Amino acid sequence: MKYIPLTIHTIDSGDIKQVSDVLKSSRLTQGPKIKEFEQALCKYTEAKYAVAVSNGTAALHAACLAAGIGKGDEVIVPSISFVASANCVLYCGAKPVFCDIKADSANIDPRDIEKKITNRTKAIIPVHFSGNPVDSQQIYNIAKKNKLLVIEDAAHALGAVYRGAKIGSCRYSDMATLSLHPTKSITTGEGGVILTNDRILYQRLLLFRSHGITKDAQLLKNNPGPWYYEMQTLGFNYRMTDFQASLGISQLKKIDRFILKRKNIAKIYDKAFEDTSWIKPLKIENNRKSSYHLYVVRIDFRKIKKTRKQVMEYLLRNGIETQVHYIPIYEQPYYKNELRYRVNCSKAKQYYQQALSLPIFVKMTQKEIVCVVRSLLKLGE
Ligand SMILES: Cc1ncc(COP(=O)(O)O)c(C=O)c1O
Repeated sequence: MKYIPLTIHTIDSGDIKQVSDVLKSSRLTQGPKIKEFEQALCKYTEAKYAVAVSNGTAALHAACLAAGIGKGDEVIVPSISFVASANCVLYCGAKPVFCDIKADSANIDPRDIEKKITNRTKAIIPVHFSGNPVDSQQIYNIAKKNKLLVIEDAAHALGAVYRGAKIGSCRYSDMATLSLHPTKSITTGEGGVILTNDRILYQRLLLFRSHGITKDAQLLKNNPGPWYYEMQTLGFNYRMTDFQASLGISQLKKIDRFILKRKNIAKIYDKAFEDTSWIKPLKIENNRKSSYHLYVVRIDFRKIKKTRKQVMEYLLRNGIETQVHYIPIYEQPYYKNELRYRVNCSKAKQYYQQALSLPIFVKMTQKEIVCVVRSLLKLGE
């Protein structure tokens, strides 16, 4: 029996050549490929500045630091996301405030954002969940009305489009962060990026990426000689290597093809499930294009008289891997027991009971898609 994974990266011989060329060169890190990758990302997203870092979590952390988030601040985050979307706020000594989601898309609900704003709120971190853009303009308007910053967690959404603007363009935000983990639209193994149109934020991000150190003559407070460098803030080593950046450059050239393939898989799934009363795919609104990072369905398990555990185990016996994205972050033991969070987001709760992510990846064959569809539909017979 063939195994159908939930997801797998797509690496070809061209990618391997680009990486091995850097491995044979004299610079493995802090060389020319980082700048080239950042420029390619700016061209693709139409953002002015890009800062490549070691992973998407580092990108979120650096973005929060650049935004000046610190002790006493609150930051609004969605309940349904990967834990990193909220943990980055904790790293800065601030408090994540969890917001409910919209039932049809599982994206953060702008109406609940408004309810959660206090005089301590400093920023909003909307997540384009599954690659499906949030109500970016609406969220940006709420933020600006209340003098808040917007940091888009676009870990899932490189290649997605909102009202004609690529996610990452920062048309409706101050910064956007990407993850380049192998499950994402393109990969550098591990990797992350922060995009922004703001020069000051850009300069701060460069400092946080590399120990808070600068050698930029225009930024130095003193400049006694060519050896000189200055640590101007407390930063980290969040640098990406040059061979990773080289992989990123090679992968980015293929992104539109990758996303088209994912979109076609999603279309087949959508069509296959449209007549069932118990499987509901997430909704993508008219003015948006998803990057189809995940294909999530909401399943009414009562209608098929099975638990989610039984469904996942049955699919696995048929060689199909599935997963649940995500457990509400505030339900995690660390948030509940250590930080004593008591949150009741009713839509997030209901979503969590029904969600199931099905396999979607660039190399997925027609046969594999049909196998997933047939196996799942059989449960409703
Ligand atoms: C929404 C979201 N944000 C942030 C991250 C963190 O990215 P990374 O794994 O590259 O650190 C992830 C990772 O999957 C994610 O799904």
